[in-house]
Amino acid sequence: MALTETRGGSLVFAINGERFELPTVDPSTTLLEFLRTQTRFKSVKLGCGEGGCGACIVLLSKYDPEHDKVEDFTVSSCLTLLCNVSGCSITTSDGFGNSKDGFHSIHQRFTGFHASQCGFCTPGMCVSIFSALVNAEKTDRVDPPPGFSKVTVSEAEKAISGNLCRCTGYRSIADACKSFAADVDIEDLGLNSFWRKEDSKDIKINGLPLYNRSNEICTFPEFLKGEIRSAMSLDSKRYSWYCPVNIEELQELLKDHNFGNGTEMKIVVGNTGIGYYKEIEHYKGYIDLKYIPELSVIRMDTTGFDIGAAVTISKVIEALNRDNHGEFSSRGEMVFKKISNHMDKIASSFVRNTASVGGNLVMAQRKHFPSDIATILLAVDSMVEVISGPRCEKITLEEFLERPPLDFKSILLSIKIPNWESTRKVFQQGNTVLLFETYRATPRPLGNALPYLNAAFLAEVSPCDTSDGFLVNCCRLAFGAYGTNHAIRARAAEEFLTGKVLNVEVLYEAAKLVRASVVPEDGTSSPAYRSSLAVGFLFEFFNTFIDSTAETTDCLWGKSKSNMLAKALKLKDKENQFHYDKFPTLLSSGKQVIQSSTEYYPVGEPITKSLAVLQASGEAVYVDDIPSPLNCLYGAFIYSTKPFARVKSIKFKSKQQPNGVVDLITFKDIPEAGENVGSKTIFGTEPLFADDLTECAGQRLAIVVADTQKHADVAAKLAVIDYGVEDLEPPILSVEEAVRRSSFIEVPPFLYPEQGGDISKGMTEADHKIISAKIKLPSQYYFYMETQTALAVPDEDNCMVVYSSIQCPEFAHSVIAKCLGIPENNVRVITRRVGGGFGGKAIKSMPVATACALAAHKLHCPVRIYMNRKTDMIMAGGRHPMKITYSVGFKSDGKITALELEILIDAGMSADISPILPSNLVGALNKYDWGALAFDIKLCKTNHSSKSAMRGPGEVQGSYIAEAIIEHVASFLSLEADSVRHKNLHTYNSLSFFYKRAAGEAQEYTLPSIWDKVSKSSSFNQRTQKVKEFNRYNRWRKRGISRVPVVSEVLLRATPGKVSILSDGSVVVEVGGIELGQGLWTKVKQMAAFALGSIIGDGTEHLLHKVRVIQTDTLSLTQGGFTAGSTTSEASCEAVRLCCNVLVERLAPLKERLLVGSNSIKWETLIAQGYSQSVNFSVSSLYVPDMSSMRYLNYGAAVSEVEINLLTGQTTILQSDIIYDCGQSLNPAVDLGQIEGAFVQGVGFFMDEEYLTSSDGLVVADSTWTYKIPSLDTIPRQFNVEVWNSGHHKNRVLSSKASGEPPLLLAVSVHSATRAAIKAAREQILSWSSQEESDSIFQLDVPATMPVVKELCGLEIVERYLEFIGRN
Ligand SMILES: Cc1cc2nc3c(=O)[nH]c(=O)nc-3n(C[C@H](O)[C@H](O)[C@H](O)COP(=O)(O)OP(=O)(O)OC[C@H]3O[C@@H](n4cnc5c(N)ncnc54)[C@H](O)[C@@H]3O)c2cc1C
Ligand code: FES
Ligand code: FES
Repeated sequence: MALTETRGGSLVFAINGERFELPTVDPSTTLLEFLRTQTRFKSVKLGCGEGGCGACIVLLSKYDPEHDKVEDFTVSSCLTLLCNVSGCSITTSDGFGNSKDGFHSIHQRFTGFHASQCGFCTPGMCVSIFSALVNAEKTDRVDPPPGFSKVTVSEAEKAISGNLCRCTGYRSIADACKSFAADVDIEDLGLNSFWRKEDSKDIKINGLPLYNRSNEICTFPEFLKGEIRSAMSLDSKRYSWYCPVNIEELQELLKDHNFGNGTEMKIVVGNTGIGYYKEIEHYKGYIDLKYIPELSVIRMDTTGFDIGAAVTISKVIEALNRDNHGEFSSRGEMVFKKISNHMDKIASSFVRNTASVGGNLVMAQRKHFPSDIATILLAVDSMVEVISGPRCEKITLEEFLERPPLDFKSILLSIKIPNWESTRKVFQQGNTVLLFETYRATPRPLGNALPYLNAAFLAEVSPCDTSDGFLVNCCRLAFGAYGTNHAIRARAAEEFLTGKVLNVEVLYEAAKLVRASVVPEDGTSSPAYRSSLAVGFLFEFFNTFIDSTAETTDCLWGKSKSNMLAKALKLKDKENQFHYDKFPTLLSSGKQVIQSSTEYYPVGEPITKSLAVLQASGEAVYVDDIPSPLNCLYGAFIYSTKPFARVKSIKFKSKQQPNGVVDLITFKDIPEAGENVGSKTIFGTEPLFADDLTECAGQRLAIVVADTQKHADVAAKLAVIDYGVEDLEPPILSVEEAVRRSSFIEVPPFLYPEQGGDISKGMTEADHKIISAKIKLPSQYYFYMETQTALAVPDEDNCMVVYSSIQCPEFAHSVIAKCLGIPENNVRVITRRVGGGFGGKAIKSMPVATACALAAHKLHCPVRIYMNRKTDMIMAGGRHPMKITYSVGFKSDGKITALELEILIDAGMSADISPILPSNLVGALNKYDWGALAFDIKLCKTNHSSKSAMRGPGEVQGSYIAEAIIEHVASFLSLEADSVRHKNLHTYNSLSFFYKRAAGEAQEYTLPSIWDKVSKSSSFNQRTQKVKEFNRYNRWRKRGISRVPVVSEVLLRATPGKVSILSDGSVVVEVGGIELGQGLWTKVKQMAAFALGSIIGDGTEHLLHKVRVIQTDTLSLTQGGFTAGSTTSEASCEAVRLCCNVLVERLAPLKERLLVGSNSIKWETLIAQGYSQSVNFSVSSLYVPDMSSMRYLNYGAAVSEVEINLLTGQTTILQSDIIYDCGQSLNPAVDLGQIEGAFVQGVGFFMDEEYLTSSDGLVVADSTWTYKIPSLDTIPRQFNVEVWNSGHHKNRVLSSKASGEPPLLLAVSVHSATRAAIKAAREQILSWSSQEESDSIFQLDVPATMPVVKELCGLEIVERYLEFIGRN
């Protein structure tokens, strides 16, 4: 689309078919900002603001009038600038279906597959699959059967692989998406509300909400096509958005304006760079390069590809991957396809769709961005064309990268990827063959993770005339992203290899040279690991040419050379098939087993989550979706970066007050009658803001209030704090220092767990002892998709209404009143739903709500905060880190007789909920019979942010510690860990001894049955043998399998409920519990229908649809308490049942009277009569659990099998099988979702998530770039879960048991399996050396990230191996 002809037009685009015309706009406005603040389309969520989560994605459609074609692709609206969508059409989830016009089958299938929990990620997920469906339709594939799309299973999975979800564990989401694929095996799809397992295939297919291909949404409205045809344009001056259409125009513009950081203009293509470099500079204008033809085309001829710098990565992938029909030789084509394949793993599709290849290279050149593209293009000797002023030059990419940073007026025009074979004419040299391979070691195989190191190797190899081997004619070895200024070539190794015949010694020497070249800069994390990756990849590349042993021989040597070469190449291809990141689909399948019970119908039914369909369409309202009231202001926190210092002043960097700033609110603004309090628990309070002294890095110091959230965020970044540390003691930044300085938080005696048995007797009975072994456990961040948020609105008579995303509004209510110095009946806190909490919105939401209230109180206007991801991550606190020292005594058969522990828990600067940690920890640790148990647990008060409840607080650590000890004992005795586990499982007697208050009755102890059951269902014994076989025959991949039990104690707390019946028979329910995505409302609805249904007999299903659970309002329902500890759903249900029972009692006499003469009565008639007779139709109650049965135990077991790659340290979870006892589940579909989601969150803790801090304790893992939660490609490939119905439990709420947290503990099975695989790797290394001693005792850290695993497998494993085969 040429934009030169007319220059006077407005910015026009369409959203969901509606026309938008903006006379002016700040050019730095993102599409997300516009959608969320200026339109009603709030389905687009802000999760990270940096392209890393997918919550904000929309479908962007562009019209090409010349070919009358519409192009549809996803983009992250948080990175896309509004001016960039001029003439485009946007479709959001609420655009392709909603409650008014009817939902799309995507929304319905997400609902039916139980694929939405908190719902915050769901609209983004829906857009991803929508885009895949739209684009599949454009292919010329054969028509699929009715109801299906042309999309394939692997495309459907890939479509959502860049979207993050913290709740579901992804399996259900993948199933919902795969249900559209024509090639899906319908039997592979998991639990859903559309069919029953035993139904026939036809019934199943027909049960799916219809996807009607012929009725698909039009993504590009006709009116906009018309406007484009009549040459739509944008007035560059008015919008400060320049779209030069040729180089000359561009050069004029470059001459006329200032460029660079903080100056006037910015050159832009996709603008995705700001996702990484979060610039706060405000540019006056932008120059968009997309409209210059030279920069936007791809040309191909026999010499290779010429790619304009503004071409998107997606387009490059497409072009390189296309079959080039003889233009290139097959191996030439192979090079392009491999480049394309590698590029396909960069970021995610919604980033690649707008990110330009030139933007990537400029970021790499100018700012040392760890680019993949630079590395892979360097290996194939690419060229670039650059203009600087009037000068235009073509230089090699290598030279370009090595030059000083490109100045801001220089433009990268194009990139040439040569057809290597055409330039080198390799085929003319007989048997010479071109080899090319690219590599990247990343925490996520499918992308959206920067690599620890990437590499690309190209070599020409030919059979040697004078020996048996292969000669390297030439090679290029490129490495990048390992902590280097730019991608480099390992020249010394290249030169060494050139002309050499490949053999063990040569490869050994080359490995040494590569190791010496790939040296990360100081300050790079895991430097030795990164260097070892380089060696590993080099080895992988050349291995098949030197390896004459078992895996590859088959008489390879001794055959004719061309045969040898063919064989070697074949082997390479074979190897590629099994390459760690080249699995054809992500998930193979999963099996879900549930046994619903009809005893309390509709309780027990796997009904879909209440309002899930609204979550999918994006119409569900979260706090930040509430429209801003008039005159609303916005706040952003300023936090301390020092752990312990005096705060002398807070100013702004610029002399002038930053844009839009209205006020800076500190503790000094707290009203005289109020108190500096930001949160409270029964253990004490934490200040809202540091007063003169900050106590941790990340502590709240102030909020800056401005006219928009963006202005507030920018101003907070511009804050400069003057600290003083004179006369202050040094901060306490370790638990050891806390002990030295006796800095502890008290644990009330009633909460300190009980020790068990006689420890010295237990130790005396032991045959062996391990003394003072040590373990450490790190923190974990919640990563709720919706960050902390609140909106405070002042009301008449000094009242304050606060909308908060919080798990305990009651406590926020009281804190706000205390802070403002007003009575509690002046405050009202309202919470409808929370976009993920996981404990992080229990205590940590209170200061956010309170800060808003304080600012609103002072400024007499509404104030809201939606925290950005970085600040949220820095202030969140998270899970408790700890250090553990243990001594354990045991018999020779593995039976443990005594365990003694010293545990130092880092609680941070204030108590928060930390005093519950010791009892939680011991509660989960006690899953085994330790014989005797003694411990000393200290809560250390340090100058770190206060740690808070995170899903399974203390329990996860307790469960892990138990497994680590079992494994240590097993290693010590050279026994299988599983047999030691089995030996130490509780009998009912020992269970009752260790869980005096919670063990329940003997028949309730279901763990032994679960233990056996999971062994059978997972074929544990057979697979253990298979793993051994696998390990015997595979040198570079090892597997491990592990079965672990879980015993987890939970506690019921008092919870209120209120049920009112309205005159039309509809029912309104309020409960203390908050809907966090855990399905609490759904269970409550079921309970209300069941309990009220008893008055009318049949028809409870009808009642189910009449019940609405409404938002929590702290003045409407008091004493709401905490939604935490896994039991709030059942307690809320019980409270509702009590209310319903009273209503039923009240209605019974009326019903008796009305029934005279008939045998049934309609619900509506009964209620109408009740209204006419003034029956009191509203009841509230407080459920107070019985002291004797308020504690109980949950049981489960899991078997996980993993495979590790010894060259990269990557762990793939091949299969996890879980059986979890939910009693008689209140809703097995909801519980299944909780189990899967919790397990995957646990996998995150044990395997992926590094919540790192600086030496001052300031969180440095503060973005989606640095903190990696599990994504679709890192969950178990096969994920089988059984929600076990263990029948009647008389003391439980309708025989049900909890599911929210305990399943998270089962993820330790993945860690244990990884440990087993590493053990096999270490045994192998040992077998290569002459040493004899056992090497099986080692600690596997948490999280077991790639560097951690690799280090234990041997950072020099390649060299050890080469030495070994060299010797033999
Ligand atoms: C979430 C996410 C994950 C990512 N993961 C990876 C990854 O794994 N591997 C990887 O290699 N990359 C990754 N990237 C980087 C991505 O490839 C780049 O952000 C993108 O290619 C930049 O292109 P753009 O068009 O958006 O550039 P812009 O953001 O528009 O521009 C980037 C910079 O380059 C300048 N610029 C752009 N084009 C030119 C030109 N032709 N001449 C001169 N200056 C120019 C701009 O002024 C700006 O300073 C990721 C990005 C995101 C957001
Ligand atoms: S909010 Fe845009 S990708 Fe996360
Ligand atoms: S449902 Fe996906 S983040 Fe909550």
